[in-house]
Amino acid sequence: MGINGQFLSAIIPAAGSGDRLGASIPKALVVINGKTLIQRAVESILPHVDEIIIAAPKEFEREISALFTDNKKIKVISGGEVRSKSVAAALSQVNKNADYILVHDAARCFSTQAQTMRVIGALLAGDDAVVPGIEVVDTIKVIDSKSFAESTPSRSTLRAVQTPQGFSAQILHRAHQSGNDATDDAALVEALGIAVRVVPGEPNAHKVTTPADLEWAKRLAETNE
Ligand code: C5P
Repeated sequence: MGINGQFLSAIIPAAGSGDRLGASIPKALVVINGKTLIQRAVESILPHVDEIIIAAPKEFEREISALFTDNKKIKVISGGEVRSKSVAAALSQVNKNADYILVHDAARCFSTQAQTMRVIGALLAGDDAVVPGIEVVDTIKVIDSKSFAESTPSRSTLRAVQTPQGFSAQILHRAHQSGNDATDDAALVEALGIAVRVVPGEPNAHKVTTPADLEWAKRLAETNE
C-alpha cells in the first residue's frame, strides 16, 4: 500500500484527439524529445500511487498499453466522447479499496512529482478535494452571449487551475454520479457543496493544447533534458 497505509489510485484522461494541436495522431501519443506525452504524465505520478488507470483514445488502447507492458500498476481502458466521460469510465475500474484518487491530464506533461506530492500532502492532512493553481497574469472578463463584458473579477481572487487534482475516493465517485460534463473534476465536487483546497501549482504544468504549446514544450524539453 502507498503512503501512510492509504491506497492511492490515479486516473489519467488521455483520450483527447490531436486536432487542436494540429497532429494527425492522438495528443497523448505525440512525442516530445523522445518521449510521448502520456509517458511523461505517468512518470510524474507513478512512484506515489498504487495504481494508474489510463483512459485511452478508442483504437489506440493497444498502442498505449504497449508503452507500459512491464508495469503491473498500469491499466489501460477506452475513453469517452468528452473528458468527464473518460474520467467516469476510468473511475469504474478503480480499485474498490482506494482511499484517494488523483486525476491528471495526459496533456500536462511537465507537471512534476513535487506537484503530485503537494496535492497528496494536502489530502493526507485532511482535505477532501485539492487542486493546484497559479495566479493569472491577464485581467479576466465574464462576457455575455453577445460578447459584451459583464463583469471583471478581481485578479487576486482568480487562479488558473491545473492537475493532478486529488479527492477522497467516495467524494469523486459521488461527484461523477451526476453524469454531468465539466472541464475539471473539482467543478463536479464544488457542485456538491464540498470545499476544494487550492495549493500552489507550477507554470510548466501548463496544458499542451495548441501548436504554439507544442513548440514551447519541445523547447523546454530540449533545454532541460
Ligand atoms: O480537451 P482538453 O485538452 O481539455 O483535455 C484535457 C485532458 O482530457 C487531456 O489529457 C485529454 O487527453 C483528455 N480527454 C479525454 N477524453 C476526451 C477528451 C479529452 O480523456 N474525450
